[in-house]
Amino acid sequence: MSLPAWPAAPVIYQIYPRSYMDTTGSGTGDLNGVVQRLDHAAALGVDAVWLSPFYPSPLHDGGYDIADHVNVDPHLGTLDDFDHLVSRAHDLGLRLIIDQVFNHTSTDAPWFIRSVAGDPKYRDYYVWADPKPDGTQPNNWLSQFGPPAWTWNHIRRQYYFHNFTSAQPSLNLRNRDVQCELRAIMQFWRDRGVDGFRIDAVTSLLFESSLKDNPPATPEEQEKVAGENFVPYTYQNHAHDLLPGDGLVFVENLRDWAGDDAFLIGEVTSGNQSVELACGLTKPERMNAAYTTDLPENNASAAAYADILTRATSPCNIGWWLTSHDQARHAGKSGDGSARDVRFLATVLATAPGPVLIFQGEELGLTQPDLPKDAVTDPLDLLYWPDGPGREGARVPIPWTEGRNRGFTTGSPWLPMKWPDGTSVAVQHIDEASNLRFYRRVFAFRRDDLGDLTLQDWSKEAEVITLEYPGATVKLNFGTTSVDAPKGADFTSSDMDDGTLPGRTAAVWLKSTG
Ligand code: NOJ
Repeated sequence: MSLPAWPAAPVIYQIYPRSYMDTTGSGTGDLNGVVQRLDHAAALGVDAVWLSPFYPSPLHDGGYDIADHVNVDPHLGTLDDFDHLVSRAHDLGLRLIIDQVFNHTSTDAPWFIRSVAGDPKYRDYYVWADPKPDGTQPNNWLSQFGPPAWTWNHIRRQYYFHNFTSAQPSLNLRNRDVQCELRAIMQFWRDRGVDGFRIDAVTSLLFESSLKDNPPATPEEQEKVAGENFVPYTYQNHAHDLLPGDGLVFVENLRDWAGDDAFLIGEVTSGNQSVELACGLTKPERMNAAYTTDLPENNASAAAYADILTRATSPCNIGWWLTSHDQARHAGKSGDGSARDVRFLATVLATAPGPVLIFQGEELGLTQPDLPKDAVTDPLDLLYWPDGPGREGARVPIPWTEGRNRGFTTGSPWLPMKWPDGTSVAVQHIDEASNLRFYRRVFAFRRDDLGDLTLQDWSKEAEVITLEYPGATVKLNFGTTSVDAPKGADFTSSDMDDGTLPGRTAAVWLKSTG
């Protein structure tokens, strides 16, 4: 079935396949599980599904350490299962986005093994550098998780560079042969019917070949980084290891490889210049959208929302989101976790002036579960345990039913599932007052009533953000006290008396078209 062209600001539902639905009893979700439960995403009225990595992987970074970019991990299924998933998505009217992790591979990837062995074709597929005369690392670059970005390889007697863990060697994207390989990977998935790509760590793809030391960040620059600002990576100004002069232009290759009709959304992980970089990355010949961590890492505050709008030259290209496989669940972290709060934040997303990313389970109002350390596999959570970002907690499989293992698996789930009673899809589906039913209503309102999402004007007064669209006025009260507001709202996230907008409430007034 062929789908209409992409909307400018699609709503995208993220599925982390290992935690969505298990059909084999292995305790880990699989592609057939995604197929089986894809109608749940369709019922939310989203435009697309983003499927996190399902490729063969030794799982040193939750599947973002890929050993073979053109295959399916046998624990998750086969290429035939993937083809089935594509056609099921299209039958349901959903476009499919998959992750492209081009910054690095796994150390298990045949390319890396051959590169270590010095095979002439693969020698320069990765970023190798000689030690300094005293044997220490080539420069002061740090991995984004904190430890040094260089690991010694005794066979080559050189260091290799890695932006993330030492199990994820960075590819040398300046190498023409590597570029040809990446083009072929994108083409492989497009030929299988994929409609778009989420470009992992797009700001890390290029660095300066000079390998100059990064200067220290100024205290102001460091202060601007929320979230894990205790990680030493935030102590540097990433002048030389993140998207140097030609970095933004390099992204035009991705557009060329993916095709004009593919939706490209990039993940920006680079601290204090995030919004500026995201806007620089999003041009017709580059990507459709990019998202930064500013809103989730600042607890979805009015100040963070306004800061994004102030810095963005093209807010309609910024992806708006609160939770992902990389962030603790927002309910209860940003706000108090009550149904009122969940619905307020859902409306903040649904009225946003750009693409929206919903992470599986947030539509149920799930809060971040506690996990015992011995259940956790995520390298970042473990490195800073118990103060890490809680990435693994967000990946706990979601509850489909109230029964054993919440209908996720007939085996033993790969992470403990201790969801409160009544949170399952089955229960919430039949309760009109549930969070799930609210998510369906608010995103149907975005699609059917809100109209053109071109932001004409906006303002911030105390804790209230007002957005002006051609067909609607939106007010988001991030504070906890009531403010005066026009009467007769057409949509509200919680009950309001005419003439006031209570705290933690969002409301929309449609403009008459007559
Ligand atoms: C971003 C991914 O979202 C995250 O999960 C991963 O750890 C890093 N990129 C490295 O691939």
